[in-house]
Amino acid sequence: MKKIHIVSIFISLVLAITLLNSCSSTRMATITGAQLWGENCVRCHNAPPSTDFSDREWEAVGTHMRLTGHLSKEERDKIVEFLKSSN
Ligand code: HEC
Repeated sequence: MKKIHIVSIFISLVLAITLLNSCSSTRMATITGAQLWGENCVRCHNAPPSTDFSDREWEAVGTHMRLTGHLSKEERDKIVEFLKSSN
């Protein structure tokens, strides 16, 4: 009886983790660089407008803020692409 209980808890956990993972990867696939910029860069300071820096500078800022803000490479790349496309 106990064994069945443990097995069903384990299966529920695996299902929950799978579901959570698929949600976050779907979100990552559909979220735009503009959204990520609006959500992340304001966590610590005003989100700088794209016109503040050149393409080359955005590359450097993106990498610096990726480390400071603990962003994933994917998030950083989307934000930098957005900023470079609208400066
Ligand atoms: C975890 C907090 C945090 C997050 C998130 C963050 N920043 Fe920053 N940012 C800082 C801090 C602290 C500084 C100043 C010190 C430094 O340069 O490290 C800074 C400085 C900057 C500067 C230089 C400002 C200037 O005028 O000299 C720019 C540009 C910048 N951030 C852009 C961004 C962008 C774009 C994002 C979003 C991708 C972002 N930051 C996300 C903390 C953060």
